[in-house]
Amino acid sequence: MAAIRIALALLVGLCAYYFYPQETFSAEMVRGMRVLVTGSSSGIGEQMAYEFARMGAHLMLTARRENRLQEVMQKCQKLGASSVHYVVADMSNLTSAQKVVEETKAQMGGLDQLVLNHVGGTMFGPFQGTIESVIRSMNVNFFSYVQLTISAMDLLQESKGNIVVISSMSGRIPGPFAISYSAAKFALEGFYSSLRAEMRLRKIDLPITVAVLGYIDTDMALNSVGDKITQKASSKEDCARQVVKGGVLRYREVFYPYWAVKPILLYRELLPDLVDQVMAYGYKLENIL
Ligand SMILES: NC(=O)c1ccc[n+]([C@@H]2O[C@H](COP(=O)([O-])OP(=O)(O)OC[C@H]3O[C@@H](n4cnc5c(N)ncnc54)[C@H](OP(=O)(O)O)[C@@H]3O)[C@@H](O)[C@H]2O)c1
Ligand SMILES: *[C@@H]1O[C@H](CO)[C@@H](O)[C@H](O)[C@H]1NC(C)=O
Repeated sequence: MAAIRIALALLVGLCAYYFYPQETFSAEMVRGMRVLVTGSSSGIGEQMAYEFARMGAHLMLTARRENRLQEVMQKCQKLGASSVHYVVADMSNLTSAQKVVEETKAQMGGLDQLVLNHVGGTMFGPFQGTIESVIRSMNVNFFSYVQLTISAMDLLQESKGNIVVISSMSGRIPGPFAISYSAAKFALEGFYSSLRAEMRLRKIDLPITVAVLGYIDTDMALNSVGDKITQKASSKEDCARQVVKGGVLRYREVFYPYWAVKPILLYRELLPDLVDQVMAYGYKLENIL
């Protein structure tokens, strides 16, 4: 009986998904949109900025390295952004995070999409057993996200805007050698999925897209884990394209690369021990310990 009910529920779910009207994505949706992308001086954030620029968005960039921000800004202008601004800020300082939103309001007059992407303050390797390393990661990778969200809430309400949060497999599945990073990503998943649920009940329209990413070929990732894991990295350009599209269409979640991420999440729910064992083969311990 139970099995039949589950099968039936699955069938209904699949049909609903199949017949649900899928909105098609077009550059027109992005033209004139005011977007803040954090961590946009390199990596996936930089690529997302280019993606938004190509489609004519107004951009606010932010990170710590001013020279890099200037280079990204110039490229965004060439690609066709409606306007580009940047603000130098260190996200380990929550006052700076607040100021980034104030600057966004001052420069663009509002905000339509908040893309929370920056990452810092952690290293891949065995847990050092210090509280400082965990606090540092939580400050940069979790609390600053929350602060930016709180500061931007009114602007997003005004514009009926949305939030995109960059998470990771490490925010869904426990993994070794990035404990403080993983803790921050799990915290993000908890905070933003709970916030989404609460907003819905309070009938406040604030779509939240969580992007669950696998291994992406940014310089940072290749340098920190390139010789330590066996997996092959996926393209940061394609990743940025998929995340931007998912955010603009206000998907609940984006998985990238889909076939490397989604099946593992599903299998881990069903067979956690087996998946842990299989995943353990992915680490080159001789290069880590
Ligand atoms: N690459 C992957 O394999 C992978 C996998 C899963 C998830 N992700 C997620 O994807 C996102 C982007 O990662 P990525 O690979 O593109 O990293 P990345 O290339 O290292 O970029 C990180 C960005 O964050 C900025 N940043 C670092 N520390 C900061 C601080 N204290 N204050 C302000 N900005 C700071 C950096 O700029 P400055 O140094 O100039 O400040 C840079 O612009 C992250 O959320 C990451 O967790 C990546
Ligand atoms: C944090 O940033 C604010 C404003 O940007 C600055 O006044 C303050 O000195 C910073 N705090 C630290 C500890 O760097």
